[in-house]
Amino acid sequence: MNTAEIKQLEDAYTANTYGRYDIAIVSGRGARCKDPEGREYIDFTSGIGVNSLGYCDPGWVKAVQAQAAAVQHTSNLFYTEPCSKAAEKLIKLTGMSTVFFANSGAEANEGAIKTARKYSDMKYGGSGGADFDRYRIVTLAGSFHGRTMATITATGQDSFHKYFTPFLQGFDYAETNNIASLRETVTEKTCAVMVEFVQGEGGVIELDPGFVREIAKICAERDILLIADEVQTGIGRTGKFMSYEYYDVQPDIVTVAKGIGGGLPIGGVIFGEKTKDVLQPGDHGSTYGGNPVVCAGSDYVLSKFDEAFLAGISQKGEYFREQLLKVGGVRGVSGLGLMIGIDVGEKDPKAIVKACIKNGLLILTAKNKLRLLPPLNISQTDIEEGLAILAAAIESA
Ligand SMILES: Cc1ncc(COP(=O)(O)O)c(C=O)c1O
Repeated sequence: MNTAEIKQLEDAYTANTYGRYDIAIVSGRGARCKDPEGREYIDFTSGIGVNSLGYCDPGWVKAVQAQAAAVQHTSNLFYTEPCSKAAEKLIKLTGMSTVFFANSGAEANEGAIKTARKYSDMKYGGSGGADFDRYRIVTLAGSFHGRTMATITATGQDSFHKYFTPFLQGFDYAETNNIASLRETVTEKTCAVMVEFVQGEGGVIELDPGFVREIAKICAERDILLIADEVQTGIGRTGKFMSYEYYDVQPDIVTVAKGIGGGLPIGGVIFGEKTKDVLQPGDHGSTYGGNPVVCAGSDYVLSKFDEAFLAGISQKGEYFREQLLKVGGVRGVSGLGLMIGIDVGEKDPKAIVKACIKNGLLILTAKNKLRLLPPLNISQTDIEEGLAILAAAIESA
């Protein structure tokens, strides 16, 4: 099928929930992919931060194919080797205690919200009583935590808070990087604070170190759980395995998804000392969570993480920043590692994306910025070629 045929069929039979570009992708290797007409694109999007090793990394493909041919699914009534190995690696890389595998970022955040509420209920005497009110969760303005009912409620953007009423109770929003607002919003009814250390969808905005110190202090003083939403920032994206490592804090719950699977759907709720025993049999579950094929891919992705790999991500991030700051029309570059936001002032980000596509480069936007999430192992040649296309598009916009 050619692009027009694929587009026509998909538009006819899938729900109209996505604003898409007129591109179909049929194959890819590394940071490059092709459409049905054989046109090649350098991809600075990684499928929105998912294809952490690029398209069809040979080791990843081998691991996934071998597992698909051995056992594709068992349910969580039984143990599987890939799930055990991926979990072990994740726990060793984070120094946390245990992980619950889910299927997506939103589902991971749902698990974190449930855990925080149960922790509070168990410790502060709720037991399902109607007057128990220490269940509130503070999130930040501009945050994004997913598309399920709980996670759109958690998301601190008004545009998500319409149409789908009634929303879940018990969420409060503090201004990002505003300590006074944080102090005002956290009350004796708060059981958790949930943050992205670099807000992704909200415009690639880093939390200030002083603001994070204050969150950690309030959480420690009042036994409020700190939940790190590392769905976009985690698994090496920022140049550290988890972005919270930049801030020298220890969250009680960390959620991951996107890059941990290398291209297959997976999420994870990672528990620390305080939270590892909160969920017990019957409290939570997922038919597909920890699926062996997905976990085989994830185990392979996680096997790549050592100091040299992380240092390479930071170096590439630095190179992107240096080069982008030389481009006429770039007002600033935000983010950490290979999570990059580009402020292009009054220029229209969507028009720049379209110009890039025309010249063979895929990039993202986040609010009024351009956003890049290239594969973590992208080559210098691909970076340079892609940046040349991007610079020309920005300059001529
Ligand atoms: C920080 C953050 N949390 C949660 C989500 C939701 O993840 P998913 O789309 O896998 O449900 C996203 C997705 O963009 C995200 O960036």
